[in-house]
Amino acid sequence: MNIRNYARPLLRAAIPVAVCLVPLSGWAASQSTPETDPDSGMVIAENWQVVKANCSACHSIKLVTQNHGSRAHWEYLIRWMQDTQGLWEFQPEMEDNILDYLATYYGPKSDARRAPLLPSQRPKNPYDSDSDKTVSAGTEPPA
Ligand code: HEC
Repeated sequence: MNIRNYARPLLRAAIPVAVCLVPLSGWAASQSTPETDPDSGMVIAENWQVVKANCSACHSIKLVTQNHGSRAHWEYLIRWMQDTQGLWEFQPEMEDNILDYLATYYGPKSDARRAPLLPSQRPKNPYDSDSDKTVSAGTEPPA
């Protein structure tokens, strides 16, 4: 008996399924992943090059893209770098463009922190007066 006789109907069924999935995967990719610059990893959108040029002179642009925050937080960071790190002043319009880009593509993350562990899942707290006294002497809190 020839194994290919079993495979043929399977193949025949698989082809239309594959044909349907190809355009679907293209659609999914366009929905979930914005286009990024291969060099910096930055999201390619209006003003990205202004941000790249101005924000990678002193440190890696990765320091920028690994951070997230509101427009006010980005403005606060820019003021901090201007006051303490020698960052230059921007024309108001250019600063607006930079802040628009950062707040839109590197905005606040609501899911950046994991949920706290339940008390029953945490290690024993040696400083808790109610905890039993089986903790070894080296970790006892000072009297
Ligand atoms: C004149 C130099 C300079 C330029 C230009 C510059 N930065 Fe910075 N930035 C610094 C220094 C210095 C630090 C501190 C680096 C460190 O902690 O190692 C820093 C830190 C940061 C941090 C980390 C802050 C934190 O919470 O630790 C972010 C985010 C940042 N910069 C964003 C930017 C953005 C956005 C721009 C463009 C608008 C920019 N930087 C341009 C000097 C600069």
